[in-house]
Amino acid sequence: MKLCRLLSLAFFLSVGLAATAADWRGKAIYQVFTDRFSLTNAYSADACDVTKNEYCGGTWKGIQSRLDYIQGMGFTAIWISPVTLQVPGGYHGYYQTDLYRLNDHFGTADDLKSLASDLKSRGMYLMVDVVPNHMGWPGCPDTVDYSQLHPFSDASCYHSYCPLLNYDNQTETEVCWLGDCNTEMPDLKTEDSTVATGMQDWIKSLVSNYSIDGLRMDSAKSVNKGFFPGFCAAAGVFCMGEVADGRATYAYAYQDYMDSILDYPLYFAINRTFQQQSDMSDLTYNLELSKNGGSTGSKDNTLLGTFIENHDNPRFPWSTDDMSLVKNAIAFTILSDGIPIIYQGQEQHLAGADDPGCREAIWPTGYNTSTPLYGHIAYLNQMRNFAQSQSSSYLTYKNWVTNYTTDTIMMRNDIVRTILTNQGESGGSYSLTTEGMGFESGETVVEVFTCDKSTANSDGEVNIRMNGGLPRVLFPESSLTGFGMCGY
Ligand SMILES: *[C@@H]1O[C@H](CO)[C@@H](O)[C@H](O)[C@H]1NC(C)=O
Ligand SMILES: *[C@@H]1O[C@H](CO)[C@@H](O)[C@H](O)[C@H]1NC(C)=O
Ligand SMILES: *[C@@H]1O[C@H](CO)[C@@H](O)[C@H](O)[C@H]1NC(C)=O
Ligand SMILES: *[C@@H]1O[C@H](CO)[C@@H](O)[C@H](O)[C@H]1NC(C)=O
Ligand SMILES: *[C@@H]1O[C@H](CO)[C@@H](O)[C@H](O)[C@H]1NC(C)=O
Repeated sequence: MKLCRLLSLAFFLSVGLAATAADWRGKAIYQVFTDRFSLTNAYSADACDVTKNEYCGGTWKGIQSRLDYIQGMGFTAIWISPVTLQVPGGYHGYYQTDLYRLNDHFGTADDLKSLASDLKSRGMYLMVDVVPNHMGWPGCPDTVDYSQLHPFSDASCYHSYCPLLNYDNQTETEVCWLGDCNTEMPDLKTEDSTVATGMQDWIKSLVSNYSIDGLRMDSAKSVNKGFFPGFCAAAGVFCMGEVADGRATYAYAYQDYMDSILDYPLYFAINRTFQQQSDMSDLTYNLELSKNGGSTGSKDNTLLGTFIENHDNPRFPWSTDDMSLVKNAIAFTILSDGIPIIYQGQEQHLAGADDPGCREAIWPTGYNTSTPLYGHIAYLNQMRNFAQSQSSSYLTYKNWVTNYTTDTIMMRNDIVRTILTNQGESGGSYSLTTEGMGFESGETVVEVFTCDKSTANSDGEVNIRMNGGLPRVLFPESSLTGFGMCGY
């Protein structure tokens, strides 16, 4: 058998202090879809026509110029689109042709380094999307000229063509090709040691050249699991895989091969609970699954990426413009156990449909920091950032659901107690007595959205004021010193 040939090999000096999973646990990630986030130095009212599936002009310099906007919401990390050279029109970054060249639509090597160093000076982390599964080719499978793909420039580096049709067949999912005759995605033979080594050399070099702190790994379920430990070890940084599958047992199994995955099982449950207003027992059940380890749960759900929107799925407000529902869903994203990920535009209440609809340009919003959801996200991140600064056990404590009804859930995580509801804006005004909150009898408790104070009864519970289906978050007053809101 002919070994697949690598066109270029790279050797690198080792990196400085690499960010580990433990370093990432407390971060809050803002997902930037590079082509649609910010132009280099201009505001523009021109919306990007998402249906054209073409470049709209976002750049790394543009991202750098808006870091105050991102940091102003309390984020401590960003995830950006893949950075590699693409087939013409590969604005999203998932059709790469040369791993060793940058996508010049997004900028130069100096621009990317400058973005990385600006983030570093702010104490923020850089996560880069990478695509180990495939390359891109602008045509039908039988027209692929492998010599144009770098560094894997020989047909023997790839699985022979078969179309990926049936995701229930794991072999097919791993060896067959994504795409169509507009763009095919030649499927890398990642189980081949030459390909695996070539990928390791590349990722080590990329992470080192651009001071990358973490990876989001695209299409992870289309790559053999055994590929990942070596790849992530070579990268030497935190690795989060995209396993786009709602089945808990199937998806969480991948955490045995990488630090983290995007929590798709919980994503579907959040969608059902807060968007379709299904019973809170559904969310409770799925939070337990994600939390409990063992054969069906995840290995460590405090490292999973928790999200309700991304560039591949319809946005939450696409099916409902109810502000209370989205506020509860965002509160769950930020205050449940995983690493929260908010997708660009959530703060502007954008309502795009399924891909490509959800890839709107952000510039027509004017980066308005006075919108209700910008403030909501900022405040929730402030709560989470504050809680971890006050309690060393906050990030690993794991929420437990102390009580739920059909439309309300109460969760307790160390010094933070969260009460969420899917009643929506029409939810009434009433007093709710908490269950299982475990406050000290007689201690003062503060609800930080209203700044209402109450005194815990002899069972350690408080009465709180519910109104219009809005979320509630409680802290013991004694832990709020220095919080910066409600007079503390
Ligand atoms: C699964 O896919 C592989 C690769 O295409 C194929 O060889 C195999 O027959 C399929 N298995 C089933 C049960 O369909
Ligand atoms: C990293 O930089 C070195 C030195 O300029 C270069 O040879 C190498 O190709 C770069 N690696 C990547 C992945 O861009
Ligand atoms: C989320 O819920 C909405 C509203 O019911 C539904 O239209 C949509 O398909 C769901 N999204 C996913 C990804 O399941
Ligand atoms: C920003 O958003 C707020 C709240 O929606 C709105 O009142 C204000 O007019 C917006 N500012 C601009 C410049 O559009
Ligand atoms: C929630 O609390 C109510 C009132 O004490 C109780 O009747 C109900 O059984 C509790 N539900 C759960 C799921 O614990």
